[in-house]
Amino acid sequence: MSHTKKCEIHGTVAPGFESVRQLYEHNMNTMAEENTQLCIYYRGERVVDLWASATNDTSFSWQKDYEIGVDEIDLEHKSIIDNYEKLYHYMITGKGHDYYDEMVQFLEKYVNEHFVHEELFQKSINYDQMAEHAEHHRLFKEKVFGIIANQKEKEVTNMDLVRINLFLKDWLLHHILVEDAKIGIFLGKKANH
Ligand SMILES: [Fe+2]
Ligand SMILES: [Fe+2]
Repeated sequence: MSHTKKCEIHGTVAPGFESVRQLYEHNMNTMAEENTQLCIYYRGERVVDLWASATNDTSFSWQKDYEIGVDEIDLEHKSIIDNYEKLYHYMITGKGHDYYDEMVQFLEKYVNEHFVHEELFQKSINYDQMAEHAEHHRLFKEKVFGIIANQKEKEVTNMDLVRINLFLKDWLLHHILVEDAKIGIFLGKKANH
């Protein structure tokens, strides 16, 4: 069964290869593809370099509601969201490859510093979900180190960009806005007792 969706197609095609872009767009919008890339070389030249994600709205920006009320932690959460947004804007203007390494370096620093700050803070308030929370951090950190290890001496592909974009979006939506938000809720309850 076919279904229609509207995918945004990113990337470029050389003159004369416009029909490949049209066909790619048609396929992305009618087939069950989620995230794909298409790269074609002709006589040694890259003539088609396209990528698309079915998850259209991948932009995301910091909002005051996301604060948990602890300055150091809120600023660090804002910094990962700002970096995510920056990567997204580079991606939609075709410059994502130039920002990828900086994003990965940021993530390495983030998992090494922010998680320590947040876990120390949880300890200081006797947070009741410390162990589960630390496990989420451990798994995310493992994935970030996996990304770093895989990327060594390898050219950044469009699919690497799509993957890191979706990986981060998932973290922002399911960890920062859910798990980290619980720390703020816990603090609020504690203050009312
Ligand atoms: Fe956390
Ligand atoms: Fe956090």
